[in-house]
Amino acid sequence: MPSNRSDRLARLMRAATENGTAVPAFNVPYLPLVRPICEALERHGAFGLAEVARLELYKFEAGSLAAVAEEYDRWANRRNDALHLDHVPVIDEDNLTVDYTALIAEGIALGYDSVMVDGSRLSFEGNIDAAARVVAMAHPEGVLVEAELGAVLGHESGPMPPYDELFATKRGFTEPDQARSYVEQSGVDWLSVSVGSVHGAIAPSTKGQTKVTARLDVERVSELRAATGVPLVLHGGSGIAVEYLRAAIGAGMAKVNVATDIRQPYERALAAGGSVADGQAAAAHALDRLLTDVLQLDGSLAMLQSLIGERS
Ligand code: 13P
Repeated sequence: MPSNRSDRLARLMRAATENGTAVPAFNVPYLPLVRPICEALERHGAFGLAEVARLELYKFEAGSLAAVAEEYDRWANRRNDALHLDHVPVIDEDNLTVDYTALIAEGIALGYDSVMVDGSRLSFEGNIDAAARVVAMAHPEGVLVEAELGAVLGHESGPMPPYDELFATKRGFTEPDQARSYVEQSGVDWLSVSVGSVHGAIAPSTKGQTKVTARLDVERVSELRAATGVPLVLHGGSGIAVEYLRAAIGAGMAKVNVATDIRQPYERALAAGGSVADGQAAAAHALDRLLTDVLQLDGSLAMLQSLIGERS
């Protein structure tokens, strides 16, 4: 049975989807980013998530799921935020097989509100099986589950296909009929879909590069929303052309994952000789711009609260 906390998160996400509002999820590749994320959400009266992906534990400096949960507990206020475990792959970006159930179990035990299993490198049936397994672990503990269908490229070490070709051919884009059957069979709460976004690069030689300006197939978002009936998740949320981003959110894209747009300002501040506090200030500046100018989320918490009948 879902706990009150995940029940609230589930209702806020559904309200965001139905109202055409985003719930941003900001990644934590470095532990000091938790503080500016939580503070920015509160400062703007917005609701969002702090999240950490498996690759941020060992390719960056997030450390461990426990370290992120502890840092989150220091800065969270829980009205404005929740904690999500992002990308736990079954096969990872380097094609290695991962003991994904162990990491998911660790996240659930540590109190993460929601978890993502990424079976997108498996067959359709294998992806459903992995997601259903995680749902069976998470739901009895009151934890929500996100999964991915389709290919959101960018984390892999090899070269990316040219972006214009990717967008024109819709290679790897999520098919609505498959998505409907995937959600029905797996029982996941939220679905990450591929509709034109790509992840920011993470390899040491490319992680500082400016991302390609991605576009989104907004019609496909509407079709996926109608087919699945669940909140949709946009990965690769940094650097998307803003008119496409807003239209996709209006069409039902609810959770928007953003890593590169706050990671790079933090890294640049430290690389220039700045302190951790300088890095946090650079991230805070980027968060202000994202929450206000890009996603237009000032006051989104009160609006979502009124939609779910919660007093603000
Ligand atoms: P960006 O790095 O492109 O913002 O993508 C973040 C993401 O999707 C994390 O899951």
